[in-house]
Amino acid sequence: MGEIRHILSASQFDRPFLDRMYRLTNKIRQFDKSKEGLIYLQSLLAHKRAMLYFTQPSTRTFLSFQSACHILGIKNSEIRDTATSSERKGESIEDSLRTFSSYVDLIIMRSPVGGLCDRVAGLLDKTDRPVPIINAGSGPDEHPTQALLDIYTLERSFKNLGGIEGKTICMVGDLKRGRTVRSLSRLLTLYPQARLLFASPQAFKIEDDLRQFLRSSRTEFMETENFKEAISQSDAVYMTRVQDEYDTVAGDSAKVDSSAFCLKAEHLKIMKPTSVIMHPLPRRNELDPAIDNDPRAKYWRQERNGMWTRVALMTKLLGMDEKILLPEL
Ligand code: NCD
Repeated sequence: MGEIRHILSASQFDRPFLDRMYRLTNKIRQFDKSKEGLIYLQSLLAHKRAMLYFTQPSTRTFLSFQSACHILGIKNSEIRDTATSSERKGESIEDSLRTFSSYVDLIIMRSPVGGLCDRVAGLLDKTDRPVPIINAGSGPDEHPTQALLDIYTLERSFKNLGGIEGKTICMVGDLKRGRTVRSLSRLLTLYPQARLLFASPQAFKIEDDLRQFLRSSRTEFMETENFKEAISQSDAVYMTRVQDEYDTVAGDSAKVDSSAFCLKAEHLKIMKPTSVIMHPLPRRNELDPAIDNDPRAKYWRQERNGMWTRVALMTKLLGMDEKILLPEL
């Protein structure tokens, strides 16, 4: 993989990149353990500024990127609603983003519009200030940084179990419109013999482009409506919520019976004792809070891993990763 200019899609990443991100993120966690380490991290990018342009609701992704900026000393500005920007006056998204690029060194963006990041990156690349773009969620399309933190979480969870290779990962819920599932599935094809199970109601099955991608990368996968059987075979169960914000007719999702795809405390006994339970969050009724204290539940850890992964990613993108990998602690 050559030099990366923008983070737009999970399909940009190759295995050496993921392995390097894993080492980088672990090293950053080491720095976090001491005041000296944290002060060192804060000095690395203290000369940089970032724009957080989030025009779709976000709690974790926004806060973890903002916290990652704080950890690295990056100063950040934000827009969280087009109602407070000149888009309200009729300015195009493209013009608004080009304007941000005048003030900052990095744009982190989340938008309900699939493919917008690619468009903006292409546009900025033709200007004399082509600042990098990070896709923090693009409609139902992609969420590459979530996929990176999910891979990090899986890698850590399977550290003493032979890694992600050969494991069975089950994704559950709205697999049609869940961008985290789409991005993570792409990355899992980089781990030999990893097997994917997709458990969902008929109406929320994966899209054909993902199916084709998995076939062309020769990844073993199976689509099923048998939730219990799928989770009992799996080394990781990745739960997701129904993405009803993308309903073309309001209320359509509610007509789909998803009740058989909810993970409850009673299911814990049919799952492997070493399996991990993940969720990108936010959750609704698909993941019972009674599970939170089971040692297999990793979703709260995923949140913190997300912050460290984003620190790692920004150091890589802004050319500071060697300054983390090289020093002896
Ligand atoms: C996810 C998202 O926004 O796609 N959340 C997140 O970023 N952690 C999942 C979701 O909203 O269901």
